[in-house]
Amino acid sequence: MATVGVIGLGYVGLPLAVAFAREGCDVVAVDLDARKIDAIAAGESYVEDVPSETLADVGGRIEASTRYAPLRRADAVLICVPTPLTPNREPDLGPLIDATRALAEVLQRDQLVVLESTSYPGTTREHVAPLLEESGLAAGRDFHLAFSPERVDPGRTDFTLRNTPKVIGGLTEASAERAEELYALVCDQIVRVSSPEAAELTKLLENIFRSVNIALVNELAMLTDRMGIDVWEVVEAAATKPYGFMRFEPGPGMGGHCLPVDPFYLSWRAREFDMATEFIELAGKINQQMPYHCVAKVQRTLNDAGLPVKGSRIAVLGVSYKPGVGDVRESPALKIISLLRELGAEIRYHDSHVPALADFGLASVALEQALADADLALIVTAHPDVDYDLLARRARLVVDLRGVTRSSNSASVVRL
Ligand SMILES: NC(=O)c1ccc[n+]([C@@H]2O[C@H](COP(=O)([O-])OP(=O)(O)OC[C@H]3O[C@@H](n4cnc5c(N)ncnc54)[C@H](O)[C@@H]3O)[C@@H](O)[C@H]2O)c1
Repeated sequence: MATVGVIGLGYVGLPLAVAFAREGCDVVAVDLDARKIDAIAAGESYVEDVPSETLADVGGRIEASTRYAPLRRADAVLICVPTPLTPNREPDLGPLIDATRALAEVLQRDQLVVLESTSYPGTTREHVAPLLEESGLAAGRDFHLAFSPERVDPGRTDFTLRNTPKVIGGLTEASAERAEELYALVCDQIVRVSSPEAAELTKLLENIFRSVNIALVNELAMLTDRMGIDVWEVVEAAATKPYGFMRFEPGPGMGGHCLPVDPFYLSWRAREFDMATEFIELAGKINQQMPYHCVAKVQRTLNDAGLPVKGSRIAVLGVSYKPGVGDVRESPALKIISLLRELGAEIRYHDSHVPALADFGLASVALEQALADADLALIVTAHPDVDYDLLARRARLVVDLRGVTRSSNSASVVRL
């Protein structure tokens, strides 16, 4: 049984570490964040997809620390560090370069290294390989190297690491074979592609596909708003077509670590090839516009009721970027709260998954309390634990950005 190393124990790395440990592998896990290491040692999970009981069950097989030295004894090392954008929206490979350099210092002959972090085509070959070769070992000859994108959708239970096909692109045939053997322990189906570049681009295509389709339906929502047509009714009707149409929901914009970030890795790389990736830019532009459109909708709804935004009490329901998770990274709710505050609104929020928004000096309050004297309830993220029918009856005014009040025909409910 393999000893598996995991670098970066976040939303991607921790579930992977646990999956290998559950299959009986010894796991050597590394993260710079000592709080995560302490939590793992205490059997306390900080990732919603990993229950603390599961972590506690396999904890004995996971050796977690802030040090890279224990990775020497791993057969394979999976790199799962963040790949964010710089403030100028360019790829920031800083964490990946730091992690790869630190790994090079402990790299062993015959080890397999797999990059799981999302990045542009060429990252594995042009950045990871040469940095690891500073160890004196040659990629593809003395150690194996592959790219295999993480595809798991946080909060989802029907498709997991086990039953989501795993794409692998090896630097060499032998690297791909070693990676396939490893992932076969935790995934039912492996999809081999011919190179790391093909695997890197596969992940970006998947996310760009979502981003572009969300932008398409969001643009439609802005148009139907002017036309007085219910966008949700149209999407639902179109989705009855048994072929050639895939349903995407309109909403307040895109959030999370992937969709607002990953496509720009490709548009940046494309510039080196004299290409402007216009679909990506346009989708980004439309999706970034959505919070402004939603705030204008709130403003109009208050105006129709004779209220200014300034001084109005607005209860924001759901601040994470999607239902059922507590992740607020890039969440459109944050932009909406900022914009409403700039206009002078008094904000309170309810989100059972997000206890506090420290940057805004806000803490989640009970739903009843949030609604008590609110002028308007704004549904930004529709967590399943809220009774939206009740909300539509109780709140003075409702603006629903997620289409969850469709069964209500109350005049006080306005939808995107
Ligand atoms: N979250 C998702 O749903 C998801 C899905 C698919 C792909 N991805 C990709 O996977 C990668 C990781 O994403 P995530 O959501 O798990 O990020 P995350 O921020 O939750 O976790 C990354 C971890 O890496 C650690 N880290 C940073 N630099 C390090 C270093 N030099 N050495 C050791 N540890 C280091 C951080 O402390 C953090 O705990 C990204 O490239 C992301 O695009 C994420």
